[in-house]
Amino acid sequence: MFFPDYRPRRLRKNESFRRMIRETRLSVDNLVYPLFITHGKKVKKPISSMPGQFQFSVDQLSEELEEIRNLNIPAILLFGIPKRKNEVGSEAYSSSGIIQEALKFIKNKFQFPEIMAITDVCLCEYTSHGHCGIVKDGEVDNDATLEMLAKMAISHAKAGADMIAPSDMMDGRVAEIRETLDENGFYNIPIMSYAAKFASSFYGPFREAADSTPKFGDRMSYQMDPANVREALREINLDIEEGADVLIVKPALPCLDIISRARSEFAHPIAAYNVSGEYAMVKAAAKMGWLDEKRVMMESLLSIKRAGADIIITYFAKEAAKILNKVSF
Ligand code: PBG
Repeated sequence: MFFPDYRPRRLRKNESFRRMIRETRLSVDNLVYPLFITHGKKVKKPISSMPGQFQFSVDQLSEELEEIRNLNIPAILLFGIPKRKNEVGSEAYSSSGIIQEALKFIKNKFQFPEIMAITDVCLCEYTSHGHCGIVKDGEVDNDATLEMLAKMAISHAKAGADMIAPSDMMDGRVAEIRETLDENGFYNIPIMSYAAKFASSFYGPFREAADSTPKFGDRMSYQMDPANVREALREINLDIEEGADVLIVKPALPCLDIISRARSEFAHPIAAYNVSGEYAMVKAAAKMGWLDEKRVMMESLLSIKRAGADIIITYFAKEAAKILNKVSF
């Protein structure tokens, strides 16, 4: 049937019709809020390229966590800024490291399932050279890095992490982490792996936030080439075979096609990371008065969900939750 018999506008006439046939709905249940934790006392340091985001010292977390819980956001994703960096990133797997301290504090204050604490497992914030693994002869050595990542995952689990999120992109790290968690009795801790993580320039503001810019070279020898979709599917498949429970596609908006393919080809939960650059662009344009920030935020998150993501990791989580808690969007 064609015009004039069929008129799609009939069902768009007003909000009563629109809400009835709406195909995708965002929910607070899908959101994960990233947090940056630093040493010191009374620190709440603004991140200039990510307006509204801060580096928090552990003693400043209470208020923030209460707000997150009151907004009904189910999970946080923790990134740490260490006191000292070195060649092998030792603070990443030290029992008195920043994330380990933060986890002990959080788990003491908020019992699961009030707030789920997910931890990023990667060495880049902790190494003096800023790469995601151990550097040998000017290159990131895959196999030497695996042991460090597994040590880091275990120390997070011991300190109370509810889920482990490896973001380093070394080959074989999911299997290594799964095996080590199981051997240490943590067989119930799931792995949410950054399976399809692209070498993206949209991570720029994060590297200021986490102080993790590589001191030489770039991350192209371990993160994926943004040109590749079939390779992304192979990476996801590998991580599933190695025991990952949730698969992350990252970044989100430049990768809606990847999210969509991942959704149709795999039955596992898919998460999308709406990264720092995606956040910064909206904030900057809104500041200039060029975009309606709240609408662009909701439309972006909606499109990520529509593409097929079950979980959305986003710096907008609190702002979106404030809207979602009032109306269905
Ligand atoms: C650590 C890591 C990065 C991000 C998440 N985990 C940075 C990177 O890979 O360079 C980026 C997150 C963002 O941009 O919001 N490897």
